[in-house]
Amino acid sequence: MRRHEHEEGGTWGKHGFPHAETRRTQNPVGLTPRVGSTPTFGTRALGLATVGGPSTGTGRASTVPGAATHQNGQDAAVKVGVLTGGGDCPGLNAVIRAVGRRSFQRRHEVVGVRDGWRGLVEDELEPLGPREISGILPRGGTILGTTRTNPYKLEGGVGRVQDTFERAGLDALVAIGGEDTLGVAARLFEEQAFPVVGVPKTIDNDLNGTDYTFGFDTAVFIATEAIDRLHTTAESHNRVMVVEVMGRNTGWIAVMSGIAGGADVILIPEQPISIDEACDDIRRRHERGKDFSIVVISEGYELEGHAEDGDQDEFGHIRLSERGVGEVLGREIERRTGYETRVTVLGHVQRGGSPTPRDRVLATRFGLKAADLVDQQRFGQMASLQGDRIVEVPLKDATAELKTVPPEWYDVAKAFFG
Ligand code: F6P
Repeated sequence: MRRHEHEEGGTWGKHGFPHAETRRTQNPVGLTPRVGSTPTFGTRALGLATVGGPSTGTGRASTVPGAATHQNGQDAAVKVGVLTGGGDCPGLNAVIRAVGRRSFQRRHEVVGVRDGWRGLVEDELEPLGPREISGILPRGGTILGTTRTNPYKLEGGVGRVQDTFERAGLDALVAIGGEDTLGVAARLFEEQAFPVVGVPKTIDNDLNGTDYTFGFDTAVFIATEAIDRLHTTAESHNRVMVVEVMGRNTGWIAVMSGIAGGADVILIPEQPISIDEACDDIRRRHERGKDFSIVVISEGYELEGHAEDGDQDEFGHIRLSERGVGEVLGREIERRTGYETRVTVLGHVQRGGSPTPRDRVLATRFGLKAADLVDQQRFGQMASLQGDRIVEVPLKDATAELKTVPPEWYDVAKAFFG
């Protein structure tokens, strides 16, 4: 093991697939560590040129078009790890399936990493063959499991990631995750030249560098359906219904489901309004004969006088659902307006179940792109949706800051307040 080499600036990703040549001659199968086999980081195994790399600081990836083909025309037996990290999300399995299918077509081998970065830290891998990926397209969750493990927060965590990667003879990693999981990937690439590509996942849609993440459409669909259902009961009882939706520190789910569901007030972190302003909107509705109202609030909204606290995860996030902003808002609306109010917290139902067709298609396209990025050794890059096209963007840029809801979107929602 040559971990010290990686820690001193890293050699991965600059010299092509580290294990492909050894594997081609030995034709190994499964995950049994190949005792005595020497990684070929330093020697260019495939007879291909590499350019660029993380040390440029530009986020530019190593580029080797057609890299997985040997000089003699034979395909390389490239071994690709796949992990899913962070909160689960509808469409993860569709990505895994697409990465697998395209990789198998190229005669690459695919290995599942259990539970996000934890699987690499604790050496928990599993075979991922055609049988494992069959029939998973419509399934919610992730067949690989997921955690919010952060190797950078664990004693020796990064070294253990590298050790596992080495022992398993992996050549590349596809990391499917949000800002946290991909933030680790970006750092590993920048600091260790780790051969990783990213796929943007999150129901929150808060990842930069892509117009949409998969999982978001499903979450918005579920929240919209809930708002529709709350409308009929709100109207029957002349009540105010407060709906708290997920989205962490951005209001994408709230604003989109609120527009789609015809919400009368929407509170998102990016566009704070006072509780009194929200109450004024509700009163205005009542004055024009509408005795019920739907109020959507994002879990990350900072209500005046409501402190933010709670346990933090390994990425420093507190559990926002525990703050209960929906409950607080509901109580205040009832107290200030006198209108009977009920609160619904949608919670994890927004993340569960089968992805929408749109998310299945997006996840599939992302997965194919990720497999292509691996094949071309475009490490340090992430699959991204721009307009209707799937392109690549540097992981570093995608994870530098959150993508917040622009004012134009909130203006669309606001046109229907009160
Ligand atoms: O990031 C996805 C998300 O569902 C957020 O919207 C939410 O704040 C968080 O994860 C909930 O995390 P957990 O599943 O750990 O409760």
